[in-house]
Amino acid sequence: MSKQPIPVLLDGDPGHDDAMAWMLAAASPALKILSVTSCSGNQTIEKTTNNALRVMALLGINAPMAMGGTPMLGKEMPVPAVHGASGLDGADLPEPKQAPVDPPAVELMAQVIRSSPDPVTIVPTGPLTNVAALFAAHPELKSRVERISLMGGGIAHGNWTPAAEFNILVDPEAARLVFQSGIPILMAGLDVTEKALVCPEDFGRIRAVGNPVAVTVADWLEFFYQFHKTMDYPGAPIHDAVAVAALVKPEILTVREMYVDVEVSGDYCMGCTVGDWHGTSGHKPNTRVLLDIDREAFVDLLVEAVKTYGEVR
Ligand code: BDR
Ligand code: CA
Repeated sequence: MSKQPIPVLLDGDPGHDDAMAWMLAAASPALKILSVTSCSGNQTIEKTTNNALRVMALLGINAPMAMGGTPMLGKEMPVPAVHGASGLDGADLPEPKQAPVDPPAVELMAQVIRSSPDPVTIVPTGPLTNVAALFAAHPELKSRVERISLMGGGIAHGNWTPAAEFNILVDPEAARLVFQSGIPILMAGLDVTEKALVCPEDFGRIRAVGNPVAVTVADWLEFFYQFHKTMDYPGAPIHDAVAVAALVKPEILTVREMYVDVEVSGDYCMGCTVGDWHGTSGHKPNTRVLLDIDREAFVDLLVEAVKTYGEVR
């Protein structure tokens, strides 16, 4: 008997790699997308919301979408150098086919979790603002969440400061609440996502698939690689898609369980995800930390995913 699809809530700040994560999720029969929510991250909340709706139109994602919030304590931190002025430069996207629903992201997520017959999995690929606010407002819903498969952090190092990864740095207080929530966490941090490289020699494989989604993904890859080339990456790290790959193809990943918490102050370590590698804190592990990936299998997964899309967009 085939397994029931995992019900998922996508929450992100698209963003090239968020968009590719959603492409992978929408292509996979292993997942059922119940809702989509935007958060402030790569760009302002207005821009990430618009991008989310356009990506949904491109991919044919048929689910309610709601606009999320801005960081709990800090300011928005748009990064046009990485994702462009629109937050998703590099390809022409269709106009949105729907408007955000009225309730804000937190309330849409709560409604969806409450009405799902099965516990859900949340897949955050941006700052954790909405997820933290969800459990602050509705702590009773924690038991209805199977796990949180997130892109964020890094045990070994950061990418926005020496210690902090971008998604955690934008809203460290929210991240801390999520890591301390008691919900099982699957963490696709920089330890693994910087190995999830799609290299220039792979771009042609995706473009050659030829449908509109494949061509758009190839355009996104070329744009996203431009920034990473300046940082000496040999390809484009598709960080956010690892949080989805961990659900649909876990066998290509290596994992280690440990306790992880988030530093919310300090001169050098604000936003650092501190992993208790040797169990010296005495805390039980709260996180399955992804550490390695079969890069070629990851690229194959993306190629197979774009093939599932048709000609119409
Ligand atoms: C994260 O930051 C964003 O630019 C990407 O979309 C990803 O979620 C990587 O640090
Ligand atoms: Ca992102």
